[in-house]
Amino acid sequence: MPSPTERSRSSTQSPSHPVTQSLVITIDGPAGVGKSTAAQRLARRLGIAYLDTGATYRALAYAALHPTPWRIRRRRICAAGAGPSGSARGWDHRERLNPVTDVQRLAALARRLPLRLRCAPAGSPRVSLGGLDITRQIRTEEISEAAAQLSQHPEVREAMVERQRALANRHGMVVEGRDTGSVVFPDAACKFFLDATPAIRARRRQRELKALYGTCPPLVQVREQLHFRDGLDRSRRIGPLITPPGAIVIDTSHLTASQVVGVMLRHINSRPRSTVHCLR
Ligand code: DC
Repeated sequence: MPSPTERSRSSTQSPSHPVTQSLVITIDGPAGVGKSTAAQRLARRLGIAYLDTGATYRALAYAALHPTPWRIRRRRICAAGAGPSGSARGWDHRERLNPVTDVQRLAALARRLPLRLRCAPAGSPRVSLGGLDITRQIRTEEISEAAAQLSQHPEVREAMVERQRALANRHGMVVEGRDTGSVVFPDAACKFFLDATPAIRARRRQRELKALYGTCPPLVQVREQLHFRDGLDRSRRIGPLITPPGAIVIDTSHLTASQVVGVMLRHINSRPRSTVHCLR
């Protein structure tokens, strides 16, 4: 499966991105609704790449809260003679940034973050920053909270949306997140919005945490955290969580992941050939 490698030059200032947008399928929805699983499976079925935009905000949150690895890494690079430029650019971030108040510095960090996302054949995509694998580290509750906070800032969102568009692969891509059909790829070939009841979303999120760490908070706490993040996602001024115009809404509460993908494929296959012919 092709991976979303960043193109050398981004065409992200305007939302018009004709080559890519006609091949993009977006999946939006609140936390714990099953977006990632559906997006990964759909991408695999279609043989195209997959982009988890939440992972980009999480990677930024990780970089903001954990400056030390960058210093260590940079020292290694400098020792190897590469110098603090070129591929080392973006690592000279020395202080922990506050996800609520350090808006301009977060936006600047977002623009130069040495981020790489690779589709894994199974499980979450591998996420790395300047060669450091942070796939597991970005799934903690600390990072979830910081990502929810820093994603409120319009300046940060603008920078991240640019990065996400630059990650789009010209051979087609399934993109999932909160604003992918409304802001990042408004002209996507096919848009989906997934939803589920809060109780079911909390149970799914709890299972996900248990699978990752072997332990998880009580259900009531997970539900509170989801409620908090839902509030932030739906109320922010820029790129709030909405059902994008033209999106197909799927209630996943009582569907398995395979059933969700089946519904999606039926919609994709019922589209006019000219819009999604390359995905058949
Ligand atoms: O989907 P997730 O839980 O991994 O996302 C982490 C955070 O990133 C979430 O709290 C909201 C933010 N996010 C966003 O604002 N826009 C997106 N397209 C994806 C995620």
